[in-house]
Amino acid sequence: MSASPAKPVSYSQTTLTELMIPAYANFGGKIHGGTLLSLMDKVAYACAAKHAGEYCVTVSVDGVNFRQPVEVGELVSLMASVNYVGRTSLVVGIKVVAENVKTGVSKHTNTSYFTMVAKDDTGKPTEVPPLLLETAEDARRFLEALKRREMRTDYAEHFDNARNRMLLPENIQALTTERCQLSPDLEQLLHL
Ligand SMILES: CC(C)(COP(=O)(O)OP(=O)(O)OC[C@H]1O[C@@H](n2cnc3c(N)ncnc32)[C@H](O)[C@@H]1OP(=O)(O)O)[C@@H](O)C(=O)NCCC(=O)NCCS
Repeated sequence: MSASPAKPVSYSQTTLTELMIPAYANFGGKIHGGTLLSLMDKVAYACAAKHAGEYCVTVSVDGVNFRQPVEVGELVSLMASVNYVGRTSLVVGIKVVAENVKTGVSKHTNTSYFTMVAKDDTGKPTEVPPLLLETAEDARRFLEALKRREMRTDYAEHFDNARNRMLLPENIQALTTERCQLSPDLEQLLHL
């Protein structure tokens, strides 16, 4: 059992709202994906550090698929909550919504999951408090995070196995329908 008492999800829920200024735009006039990633990292840190009561670092990011572009002048809100806690790691789910302030219309641009690890003053991973689940949504999110973790492990295993077979002739054949060419030197190297 953990020494620290469980903290409710609501304790660390954090929303960051920021106006999309022209300096954030790319050459196409839309907001840089990297700007949104940086804001997501910020809000994930605030949420994770509040739950952990410690300094936290970002370990991995899942589910960054920008479904719609964000425009200059829109008000972007990033809503973060702790979805899952392990021993020293936590998963922060972040929903990103962009609002056109003139029309009041909002669009959901993405939901992403940041895995953060709490560190002690010496830089070692340190235990985080358990999570108190108070609503059905809290429980659903915790279960979804477990499922994502299980699927990530399966994927990593499958990919490692597949990677070991990548240069077999049957896999090389798959390249014939792709938009690439093998140089004569490479063909010779692969004995084709
Ligand atoms: C993440 C880090 C602390 C892991 O260190 P480690 O010595 O491997 O520690 P552990 O194996 O005990 O892992 C600590 C936790 O991280 C989790 N973890 C490690 N790698 C992970 C990954 N790729 N994805 C998800 N979780 C991961 C472990 O499952 C463990 O969680 P748990 O305690 O809840 O079970 C270390 O790799 C690190 O400091 N990385 C740099 C992070 C950083 O600086 N980020 C900022 C970007 S520059």
